[in-house]
Amino acid sequence: MRKSFKRIGILTSGGDAPGMNADIRSVTRTAILRNVEVMGIYRGYRGLIEGDMKLFSVRDVSNIVNHGGTILFSDRCPEFKTEEGMKKAVDMCINNKIDGIVAIGGDGTFRGATDLTCRGVPCIGIPATIDNDITSTDYSIGFDTAMNTVVEMVDRLRDTCESHARCSVVEVMGRNAGDIALQTGIATGASAIVIAEFPFDEDEAIQNMIKSKQTGKRNFIVIVAEGAPNYGEDLAVRIEKRTGIETRFARLAHVVRGGPPSLRDRLLASKMGAAAVDALLDGNSNLVICESGDEIHFMDIDFALKLDRMYKGNLAEGDLKGYNEDQIRKLKDMCNRKRRSLEKLYTLSKEISQ
Ligand code: ADP
Ligand code: F6P
Repeated sequence: MRKSFKRIGILTSGGDAPGMNADIRSVTRTAILRNVEVMGIYRGYRGLIEGDMKLFSVRDVSNIVNHGGTILFSDRCPEFKTEEGMKKAVDMCINNKIDGIVAIGGDGTFRGATDLTCRGVPCIGIPATIDNDITSTDYSIGFDTAMNTVVEMVDRLRDTCESHARCSVVEVMGRNAGDIALQTGIATGASAIVIAEFPFDEDEAIQNMIKSKQTGKRNFIVIVAEGAPNYGEDLAVRIEKRTGIETRFARLAHVVRGGPPSLRDRLLASKMGAAAVDALLDGNSNLVICESGDEIHFMDIDFALKLDRMYKGNLAEGDLKGYNEDQIRKLKDMCNRKRRSLEKLYTLSKEISQ
């Protein structure tokens, strides 16, 4: 049933990601086209609690599709998680005539969206994080840009490694997820990739590097996910000691969270933004927008959060209470699908780095 929404709010929360602005633009333009006003809420849930917001016109989202960061700024707001904070947020929505909210961010942001929905403010979540660690979607906004930035940086490092016959151990972001490390490792022709999801055979990797050195290879790249413990600077020291190859460590850190979004991220953000507005206006709430293959679809946020926890092995006692066999099988199938796709890539990376 089409809702008679007059005004929706939009916010970005958690770690920023390139493409958030393209998302803000798409949400704003789609809503205005449907005769719905858009309230831009600054600094995530903190701005919502404090009433830091402004009615947007199309001009407010001009010249932003090509920029990284988020014009709405982002923040992490522990107060929002408290009953008092939540009440302030709901009151702020009522006082500012906000009928629903599009919340752009990661799983923490979605938990907040669920809490608001339960208290009468319908919310739709859009996955935006460079980590790509939201199990319900194949791609999250920002992931592609971050990977392209890593590739550019590592290509540069490779040039200087080749000149000096060195190895670069490069640590990339991703929190606990190895997606960025794995895909960029393959794309940069890394000699080894270390991610937390699979055990790393350090001896094998070192032997392979020694053999390659003997056949004349001069440059070596090792990509390490930040979520893989004890493999950052320590690994660089061990590689140098055991291979005799001079080794440098580089942490790319937040540099890959900025910069102009890639075409893929702009497109994904534009599609998801429009889908989020239409989902709200169609009377839906508590959904996260997902991409599988080429399709944009929706998943209940609770279901998506359980899926995430199942995939990451964090399911708590009673998490699946109320879920029937079909739903549990669906969750397991989705986890297996994600694991298989990661495994395939990991196997490929090992085979072509020998
Ligand atoms: P991300 O959305 O990228 O995962 P965070 O985990 O930092 O980032 O969450 C962003 C914000 O979402 C938090 O600062 C907080 O305001 C809100 N949030 C996080 N977890 C919860 C929760 N369990 N309940 C309600 N709100 C939450
Ligand atoms: O979630 C995005 C991310 O950049 C992670 O890759 C990283 O672990 C974390 O955020 C860094 O957080 P902060 O911005 O608080 O330093």
